[in-house]
Amino acid sequence: MQRRMFVSLIAAAAALSFGASAVQAAEEVKIGFIVKQPEEPWFQDEWKFAAQAAKEKGFTLVKIGAQSGDKVITAIDNLSAQKAQGFVICTPDVKLGPGIVAKAKADNLKMMTVDDRLVDGSGKPIESVPHMGISATKIGEQVGTAIAEEIKKRGWDLKETGAIKISFEQLPTAHDRVAGAVSTLTAAGFPAANIIDAPQAKTDTENAFNAANIAITKNPQFKHWVAFGLNDEAALGAVRAAEGRGFKADNMVAVGIGGSESAINEFKKPNPTGFFGSVLISPKRHGYETSIDMYEWITQNKEPAKLTLTSGALMERGTYNEVRKQMGLE
Ligand code: GLA
Repeated sequence: MQRRMFVSLIAAAAALSFGASAVQAAEEVKIGFIVKQPEEPWFQDEWKFAAQAAKEKGFTLVKIGAQSGDKVITAIDNLSAQKAQGFVICTPDVKLGPGIVAKAKADNLKMMTVDDRLVDGSGKPIESVPHMGISATKIGEQVGTAIAEEIKKRGWDLKETGAIKISFEQLPTAHDRVAGAVSTLTAAGFPAANIIDAPQAKTDTENAFNAANIAITKNPQFKHWVAFGLNDEAALGAVRAAEGRGFKADNMVAVGIGGSESAINEFKKPNPTGFFGSVLISPKRHGYETSIDMYEWITQNKEPAKLTLTSGALMERGTYNEVRKQMGLE
């Protein structure tokens, strides 16, 4: 008994003085999770699932909202001062890419991106940074198909139907989602000329509302409207603007992307609204999996996959519970 204790004491001392791995294991793992729009339910959900990973693996999660480039840089410095080893980020502006990469490197922090992929000076994705995003084009196509099918069901005259395309061109994933929707909608026979571009200044409901309002005002010829954009907030902004102009559930079909609280609250209303559906994507994969990836990178030196694209499933007022369950979200 005494001998065994002596041997293990020697082993512990050896590990302390020479074994870097033992020292590392004793160090607290701290991971930052930086998001561009902390008030948006999607990002709240990502944080929730990141916290689940932290609890499971026993690391400290530092949640930071950074709505501007300055805030991102301050956040990275703060993480470094707190002795974090890495972070996951959805940046407020993908063009900050090279600056963020340089900052993380200078502060000796591992980084991976989620949702919005960083681009370099010429607009190309920075492929060296591991990224998890949604299969934007494919999911956009699902949106366009859902809208086209609903138009058909309602028997709307296409000549009298306009489409509000809430766009945010500076974000590649937004461009791809919306382009996907346009492609399936027009492939189903929707006239391209009736698709009204409504650029938004920021990816929230208020900015989508303003963009949609202008589109509707300028096009009084349409009796029915459909709408789509990069997320549920975009679709909701269009729905609220249309309501203000008298286009209610009977004359508006908007389909969003996300499927979190913004969409669910809409489906829970006693009467249907113009918010017809949403393609559910997984905040669990984007929050939990990225955090686990970062944890394993820090503790096992296992670098995450360079690119992971997640899929989506259409949910409607009558099916959202079931679809969320199937994605493991209920
Ligand atoms: C972007 C959008 C978010 C959400 C994520 C999903 O960041 O701004 O609303 O759709 O993509 O990846």
